[in-house]
Amino acid sequence: MTDAITFPEGFAWGTATASYQIEGAVAEGGRGRSIWDTFAHTPGRTRSGDTGDVACDHYHRYADDVALMRELNVDTYRFSLAWPRLQPNGRGELNPEGVAFYDRLVDELLTAGIRPWVTLYHWDLPQALEDAGGWPVRDTALRFADYAAAVHARLADRVADWTTLNEPWCSAFLGYASGHHAPGIQDPAAAVRAAHHLMLGHGLAVEAMRSARPDLRYGITLNLYPTEAATDDPADLDAARRVDGQSNRLYLDPILAGRYPDDLLADLVPIAGGEHLRDGDDKQIALPLDVLGVNYYSRHVVRAARPDSDYTPNDAWVGAADIEKIRTGKPVTAMGWEIDDQGLYDILTRVARDYAAPPMYVTENGAAYPDAVGPDGRVHDQQRIDYLDGHFRAAHRAIADGVDLRGYFVWSLMDNFEWAWGYDRRFGIVHVDSATQQRTIKDSGRWFAEVARRNGLPA
Ligand code: FCB
Repeated sequence: MTDAITFPEGFAWGTATASYQIEGAVAEGGRGRSIWDTFAHTPGRTRSGDTGDVACDHYHRYADDVALMRELNVDTYRFSLAWPRLQPNGRGELNPEGVAFYDRLVDELLTAGIRPWVTLYHWDLPQALEDAGGWPVRDTALRFADYAAAVHARLADRVADWTTLNEPWCSAFLGYASGHHAPGIQDPAAAVRAAHHLMLGHGLAVEAMRSARPDLRYGITLNLYPTEAATDDPADLDAARRVDGQSNRLYLDPILAGRYPDDLLADLVPIAGGEHLRDGDDKQIALPLDVLGVNYYSRHVVRAARPDSDYTPNDAWVGAADIEKIRTGKPVTAMGWEIDDQGLYDILTRVARDYAAPPMYVTENGAAYPDAVGPDGRVHDQQRIDYLDGHFRAAHRAIADGVDLRGYFVWSLMDNFEWAWGYDRRFGIVHVDSATQQRTIKDSGRWFAEVARRNGLPA
């Protein structure tokens, strides 16, 4: 039996999406190509060869989708702008048709009484910039800041919440180390440099936007993982230190504390060199923020690989072929990720304890399950309700213990293109039939609407 709980007044209840995962219309409105178009169209890169060409067709159906959000009592909607829709080649004048699309979307949201929350970069780098070296080269950070300033100038009259990057760990290490995400490169040194340039781009963008509108809110979203050692054997503790370094402190320390941790520099400079780290970068990356977005899905429990264990090294952890992630036996979602709501409490309280953090939002949390519309026309996704209920309660405990958490965005509004997994992994609280584009609110969506309405959970 659980207790009824209420969140602080004004707590934001939202849903999150990303441009390439939902928009489709990749060749319309003057949009340029992104690294995800190239990657998804390369045989063998995505499950069943799925691409975001059509996705949820949100580019055409955005008004219906906003109406759905109203039904779900969403008060804030976190979405990303497609850089190649706005700057088809990653530089220069904005594409008027791209601006017009986001104008329409923002206006539709405002008319529905929903607060628009923009993410500037959720992984769809213009291909032209990748061809010029991508995130491993410094110039991409400068291009990102120009893009940010240009679109901010067009939307900041109506959009008050600006997130620079979504999950730089994924852009850098899945993109350039393991190659599981676009651009699909396997070069650990490039990944480490990419991480630095992503954060530099973040800092430059914050400066440019804040100088134009100091009254609005600026932040970044990180995917954080509580990380622990399987045993207190020194080799296991060191494995956990290294993974925690690459997953969490590589971002939290420069952004919130103004410098890279020494142990991480000792791990990574031998891999990537240090020439990409320039004087002044530390300051630029650590400009004050109004918001820290935390995406949370699961925990890492790691150890030094045992000689007899049969495991595949995680290539996204660089210089770490000797580290093995272990399962703890908790139930998993369709992604194979262990369900661990206490981990959300742990990461939020840790950030609050270890850093001078600004107010936080859970900018993503959710679960994939193999949902289907039943004979009664409904989607009975009790597992997702249980998942969210547990995580909402963990967030509430963190607030009770002093964490300044201001809102919660469920990933995702609707089933969409789940990157390398294609359409096979459904995270939505709204079901989408990709053949017909029919939307069906799942039981979890109805339940979410009630949570948002009462700003809390029933007993
Ligand atoms: C996050 C991404 C988001 C989605 C969820 C499941 O890493 O930001 O786009 O893929 O995972």
